Amino acid sequence: MRVLSVVGARPQFVKASVVSQELREHHEEILVHTGQHYDEELSDVFFEELDIPEPDHNLGVGSAGHATQTGEMMIQLEPLITEYDPDVVLSYGDTNSTLAASIAASKMDTELAHVEAGLRSFNRDMPEEVNRVLTDHVSDYLFVPSRQAVQHLESEGISESVYHVGDVMYDALLQIRESTADEPAVLKRLGLEPDTYVLATVHRPRNTDDAERLAAIVDCLCEESRDVVFPAHPRTLRSLEEHGLRERAERELTLIDPVGYGDFVGLLANAEVIVTDSGGIQKEAFFLTVPCITLRTETEWPETVEEGGNVLVGADPTGIREALAAPPVSPSDAEPYGDGTAGEQIVAALTR
Ligand code: UD1
Ligand code: UDP
Repeated sequence: MRVLSVVGARPQFVKASVVSQELREHHEEILVHTGQHYDEELSDVFFEELDIPEPDHNLGVGSAGHATQTGEMMIQLEPLITEYDPDVVLSYGDTNSTLAASIAASKMDTELAHVEAGLRSFNRDMPEEVNRVLTDHVSDYLFVPSRQAVQHLESEGISESVYHVGDVMYDALLQIRESTADEPAVLKRLGLEPDTYVLATVHRPRNTDDAERLAAIVDCLCEESRDVVFPAHPRTLRSLEEHGLRERAERELTLIDPVGYGDFVGLLANAEVIVTDSGGIQKEAFFLTVPCITLRTETEWPETVEEGGNVLVGADPTGIREALAAPPVSPSDAEPYGDGTAGEQIVAALTR
C-alpha cells in the first residue's frame, strides 16, 4: 500500500508520528509537510524528537489568510497526488493543512482517510470546526477517537467506513512517557518544583486577537501566587506585544518560547494545574490526570469535562480566578479515548 500523508502544524506532527511508525513497517509512505508551521520550535524539533522521517516534500506555504494558505497548499498538493498516485491520502486533525489535503484528494482518483474524525465543538466561528466538518464529509475512511464522535457522524448521515480506534495522541503520550524521566530536566532549567506551578498556553485567535480577552487572561495569570510557566506561540507573542502586555507578562510570568514535545509533556505531568485554549493540551492534561482550566466556552473533547477533569471558563476573569482557586478534580480511571493502540488499528484497517 502506498500512503501519502499530509501534515503542516505542530499537533499534526505528534499525531503523524504514531501512524507513520506503524505504516512504515510494511508499507510505503510519502510524507508531505505543507510548511504551515515553519519555525524550528514549531516544526523541526518534533521531527527530530519523535523520529519522524524527513518529509519527502515541504511545500513552504507559510503564513497567510485562510483562503490563500489553503489554496496554495491545494495547488501544490494536486500534482504530487498525481505523481505518486497513492492508494490513500491521510489527513490529520482540523487545520488548514487538513482541509487542503482533503479537498485536493477527494476530487482525485485516490481515497481519503481522516484521522481524528467526528469531533465537533458546534462553534462554526472557529476555522477548525469548518475544516473538520468539510473533511469528514469528503472522507472515504473516518478514524474516530470517541463514542460521541461516532454519534456526531451518524447524526450527519455518515455511518459507513467509520472506525472507532481511539485517539492517536494518547498513543503518542504513552510512548513519550516511556522515554522521559518522572522529573525531567526542563523543570530544573526553569527553577520549578513538581506540583507547585501553573502551566499556561494560549493561541486561539479568539483569545489572542481580542485585546480585552487577552488582557483578562494575562491579569489572572499575573495575580497567581504560584509560578506560571507560559510557553508562547508566535501568534501570542505578537499579540502580547501589540496589546502592550508583553512587558508585564515577561516580568511576572515565566514567558518562554514553545518547547519540544518531551519537555512540554514533562511540564504538563508535573504541573499543579493547566490553563489553556489548546485542543490537544486539554486531552493530554486529562490523560495525565492534571486539572485543566480551558479558556473557551465549548470543546470538541467534551468527555474531559463530563468526566470532571476539565472546566470551560472562556476568558471570564471571575471564572478563571475561581477555577484557579478550586481546580476541577481529575479522574484517574476514565478511558474515553481508547487504549493507546489507535495507530496500530488505523494501519490494520487501511491494510484490510
Ligand atoms: C494553527 C491551526 C490551529 C492549531 C494550531 C496549532 C489553522 C486555521 N489553525 O493555528 O488549528 O491549533 O495551528 O498550533 O490551521 N507563525 C510563526 N511561525 C510559524 C507559524 C506561524 O511565527 O512557524 C505565526 C504567524 O504570524 C502566523 C500565525 O503564527 O500568521 C498563525 O499561524 P497559523 O498557522 O496561521 O495558525 P496557528 O495559530 O498556528
Ligand atoms: N506542545 C509542545 N510544546 C509547546 C506547546 C504544545 O510540544 O510549547 C504540544 C502539546 O503537547 C500537544 C500539541 O503541541 O501535543 C498541541 O498543539 P497546539 O496546542 O498548538 O494545537 P491544538 O492541539 O490546539 O490544535
